[in-house]
Formats: sequence, C-alpha cells, structure tokens
Amino acid sequence: MSGPSRRGFLAATVAAAAGSGIAARPAVADTAMKRPVGDTEPFWDAHQGGIVTPSQRYTYFATFDLTAATGDEVAALMRAWTAASARLAAGQTAQPLAGPLDPAVARSPAGHKGGASYDVPGAAAMAADTGEVLGMPPERLTVTFGFGAGLFTKDGKDRYGLAARRPAALVDLPKFPGDELVEAHTGGDLSVQACADDPQVAFHAVRQLARIAAGAASIRWAQAGFLPHRVRQETPRNLLGFKDGTVNPSVNDPKAMQEFVWAGSEAPAWMRGGSYVVARRIRMALEHWDRMPVAFQEQTFGRHKYSGAPLGGKVESDPPDLQAKDKDGNFIIAENAHVRLAAAATNGSAQILRRPFSYNNGVDFTAERWPPWHQGSEYDAGLLFICYQRDPRSGFIRIFERLAKFDMMNQFVTHVGGGLFACPPGAVAGGFIGQHLFEQT
Ligand code: HEM
Repeated sequence: MSGPSRRGFLAATVAAAAGSGIAARPAVADTAMKRPVGDTEPFWDAHQGGIVTPSQRYTYFATFDLTAATGDEVAALMRAWTAASARLAAGQTAQPLAGPLDPAVARSPAGHKGGASYDVPGAAAMAADTGEVLGMPPERLTVTFGFGAGLFTKDGKDRYGLAARRPAALVDLPKFPGDELVEAHTGGDLSVQACADDPQVAFHAVRQLARIAAGAASIRWAQAGFLPHRVRQETPRNLLGFKDGTVNPSVNDPKAMQEFVWAGSEAPAWMRGGSYVVARRIRMALEHWDRMPVAFQEQTFGRHKYSGAPLGGKVESDPPDLQAKDKDGNFIIAENAHVRLAAAATNGSAQILRRPFSYNNGVDFTAERWPPWHQGSEYDAGLLFICYQRDPRSGFIRIFERLAKFDMMNQFVTHVGGGLFACPPGAVAGGFIGQHLFEQT
C-alpha cells in the first residue's frame, strides 16, 4: 500500500495532537531544532490570524478535497492542523521531534476496536518537519482555515452529518457574467491560507499541513501570491500598476470590523467571531493592458495611476467625488469605472475587507480556455483577489454582481478560479479551529 491509510492517518493525527500537547513539555530535541524567533503573530486568539493582521508580503493559498470517511476523522485533522499551525507560527517544527516512535503513539485511539495491529505510518510519514525553513524566523506566519460547502454536503449527501450546521451565508457562489472558472482551480472542501513575510515560510506551512493530512485530505488547487517589498507605509501596487487597497474598512476600527468582517448573532454559534473568505484567481491580459494609454487606464479605475488620487482629486486619500462632472456634463469618474461600481455608496453600503496579492505563474501558451477571443495574453499572471466579510451575500456577491456586468476593467481581466469558505473564529490554546462545529450537539 502506498501512503498511510485513513486508519493510519487517524492514529497519526491523534498521536500527533496528543504528542504535541500544544504548549506542553516539548521534547529536548524539539527545543534544540526550533527556528530562531523573529517577528511572530499570535496564533491563539478570539479570531483567526491572517484576517485583520497587517498584510504580510507573501501568501500560499490552498484548498483541499476531503477523503476522510467520518466527521471524527475531519475533526482529528483539524486538531492536528491547529496544533501544527500553532507550532509553525511560533517558529517551531510542524510536529514535535519525537525521535523513535513512542509505543504510546502506536496505541489504538480510544474507542477503536480493530485489534492490536493498528497500522501507524512509518518514520518517514511521522517526520516532524520537511526542514526547509530550519534556521529561519517565523516571518509573521499566520494560517487561516476555512470550510467549503463540500464539508457539509457533497453530491447531495450529508457525508459527515454536518449538513444541518451549514451556515446560510455559505451559499454556492452564483456564476457571474464573464466567469471562466476552471474546475481544477475552483472550490474545495477546506481552505488554508498561509501568509508570511517570506515565500518559503508560507509555502512550507501549507506543505506541512498537506503532509499531515495524508489519507484524510489532499490538495485540490493552490496559488502563491506576493506583494512588493519596501512599501509598508504606502499602498502596494498591483500588476496593472495601480495602488490597490486604498479604500478598505479600517482593521483598527473594531466597530467597522464587527459590522463588515466578523460573523455575529445571525450566524450559527460555531461561526460567531469568524468570517467568510472569497478567493478569486483573476488573470490579467497584461499585454493588452500595456498597450493602453495611461489616461485610458486611469478612466478604467477612476483613479490616477501614479498618485492613486481619485480622478478630480489631488491625493490618494481624497474621497472619490462620484457626483463631479466635467464641462460637458459627463461624470469625471466614469459610470463604468471600477471604483464607482465598487464603492459602498453605490452598493447599498456593502463593504468587504480586501487582502489581495499578485500572482505570476509564468507564461502559458497552451491553455485551451485562454485567451478569450478579444484579448491576447500569454502571461499567466494577475490578482489573487482575497476578501473577508461578515456575509458574502451582502459583501462580495452584492458588489461583484455589478462589477461583473459593467466594470470597464472586464476587458482586461478574467476570473479563472476560486471559492468561498467559512472561516471559524480562533481557538483557545489546547482547542482547535472549528471545534464547536464538530462538538456541537
Ligand atoms: C484584477 C482584479 C482587480 C483589480 C486589479 C482591482 C483593483 C482595484 C484598484 C486599483 C482600486 C482602487 C484603489 C483602492 O481603493 O484600493 C480598487 C478598489 C476597489 N475594488 Fe478592486 N480590483 C479588482 C477586483 C475587484 C473585485 C473582484 C472586487 C469585489 C467584488 C473589488 C472591489 C473593490 C472595492 C470595494 C474597491 C474600493 C472602491 C471604493 O470605495 O473606492 N475589486 N480595486
């Protein structure tokens, strides 16, 4: 048999979670091998990290398809993932360096009646860490977990007995005009977003979690993303050359976060204090864009390219004046400009917390679905659009419904993948992300 079996996975994860004991008694070897502590973000918190955390420079976003047979196995996976993520965020190896397999590890988990020969994966599968970030600080690593619709219902089946607990807000995203979603880059039962100030640290975290999940879940799609360096005090630019992130609800305003980001009393108890993430891989026709005059590019967004100021304004922080007209009576910020269509003022006050990253997968001359007839593009590059919100129906969906139909930018971008996931609140030390979903009676 290649790879650990599901039973092996459960034994391994239960053992790993028990063995890690979260903060309890790390083995000596573990302490010796741990990475030097640099900048860290807290892991155990009321909310998961990576949502209102000041944006790191890199992300690795992955979704997983579950192969686990039971809800208990999914809960064991979340327990193991939580323990490993807490360790990684603190700059430790993903799992404690246990040395030779402790006989206790090989013991059947409580309630298992399968006899003595429980097949625990060998030393390779139980290795504490793949090692490529040893010697590196945590680089402000955060790991944010989400649950897709497939955890609750798959092919019409309530496969884990959780269907009744699916939040109303975890809808199936509608197909928007212009969507060219590729099945292989869309959806997933679970999402994991690692963010860090180093790309290897972000990738490493997801890689450890994928390894730990063997037999219970496997990666469906993944996308690495980046932001430019050395712009910490300034809004970073996306690959179209525009400052991206100017207008966003303030993460320092708890009232705004409560109103627009954190799920409240309308949500099932297990989701309160959580948030919903929409991720979209948006490919840009950069060759096409690069042939456009700057003035046209500015019309497209309704902002100046270099300063980031709204058209008609002077500096980036000026609020866009959506009523201002030119001498001919036409709007200075065009009716189909991105910022007009996306603004809260034109969307019934809808707001989302955007945390986008650029992506660059090289060039792609072969994609069957690309380029659409009206564009030419060989770069497989664009925006990994990520936004968090209290309810996607009054957030992303409400805003994007209009953008998808009317946005002038649509001739340069195409949505080719993504998903919607319910991100539960944070966990207390010793608990795990999503615990209240699985343990609720
Ligand atoms: C490749 C795709 C996209 C690019 C390049 C892009 C770029 C931009 C830029 C440059 C701005 C102006 C600066 C700022 O306020 O951050 C902006 C604003 C905004 N975008 Fe996008 N965006 C994209 C997709 C989306 C999508 C899919 C949504 C949501 C459904 C969205 C929602 C918004 C919102 C809410 C604003 C603020 C509008 C305001 O109140 O002024 N964007 N975007």
